[in-house]
Amino acid sequence: MTLSEITTIREKLLADLDGIGAADQLEAFKLAHLTRKGTIGAMFDDLRSVSKEEKPLAGKELNALRQLVEERFKEKESLYTAGAGVGIRHAIDLTMLARAVSVSAPGHEHPLMKTLNEMVSIFERMGFAVEYGPEVEDDEHNFEKLNFAPDHPARDMQDTFFVRSNPLAQQGEGAGPAPTLGEAAPLLLRTHTSPVQVRLMERQKPPIRAIMPGRVYRNEAISARSGVAFFMMEGLVVGPGVSMADLKGVLLSFAKQFFGSDAKIRLRPSFFPFTEPSAEVDVSCYICGGKGCRVCKNSGWLEILGAGMVHPNVLSASGIDPEVYTGYAFGIGVDRTAMMRYGVNDIRDFFENDARFLEQF
Ligand code: DAH
Repeated sequence: MTLSEITTIREKLLADLDGIGAADQLEAFKLAHLTRKGTIGAMFDDLRSVSKEEKPLAGKELNALRQLVEERFKEKESLYTAGAGVGIRHAIDLTMLARAVSVSAPGHEHPLMKTLNEMVSIFERMGFAVEYGPEVEDDEHNFEKLNFAPDHPARDMQDTFFVRSNPLAQQGEGAGPAPTLGEAAPLLLRTHTSPVQVRLMERQKPPIRAIMPGRVYRNEAISARSGVAFFMMEGLVVGPGVSMADLKGVLLSFAKQFFGSDAKIRLRPSFFPFTEPSAEVDVSCYICGGKGCRVCKNSGWLEILGAGMVHPNVLSASGIDPEVYTGYAFGIGVDRTAMMRYGVNDIRDFFENDARFLEQF
């Protein structure tokens, strides 16, 4: 045995110890190297073969080697010995200084919730109640009672996430039309918050004045403009003599409170199965004030919601007499509105939980 062999073995044992990651490996290490017959023991036996001149130095080196390895072994052991409490003392250094809590950016509302909560409180101040409905819906509420024709493309698998598809459809032709009620009806993730209108009208008679915020789901390609889950806020007002003028008034008031007192709105004719007439509502661009800029693509207007007078079919399907009552409804996309408001270009930024993004709101 030479001095350089001792050095080589020391390096190897220390490296092996370093690589140990579990209690049973520690035990094996001890057996192989630290017992009487182990590597180090055997090296002491070997001292006999070392020349007289080299013996004192070799003995000293060997003792140092044993001490070092045993020390390192104990350190490792304390990390893996449960119960002794020693491991914990090593794993958690109680003397270490705590990381400073940033006072400038403590936890706060997510930009989407901030937008939604602001919308909700504006409508609450105007006397709207807040109502909720299930995210897992049936065809009856998500489509049928909202006056979607049985073959409306929005019912297609392309747009809707089904939780339970129609079991009879598996049987092929001759199975008859898809049942929309009861046990066999398909269940789906609601594609909009409009079904909550129906649920509300089913359980409450007019006058109704409510908003219905919540998460909705669509089976769409994920892009900078759309995700598979996003937030919408529905509004519904039903009573005797409710008119399109009331709708316009409420929406204008909302736009002024949300986007600023200079905001204007315009209604463009549109189509939704559950409203007649239907409109798409734009707000004057809050960036350029309507002069035209990059955000509004030089049109001066930003589309913010869909709205209209509740279709008589929807009222009667929900148990309300359309001869007596009329109503208006609207649906706002919360994520899109938040994007506009904060100048966010990619909807996915809201969901990636990057603190550098979230801290800005
Ligand atoms: N549900 C529609 C959508 O998913 C939004 C909408 C349009 C809601 C018009 C309404 C409405 O209540 O009247 O885009």
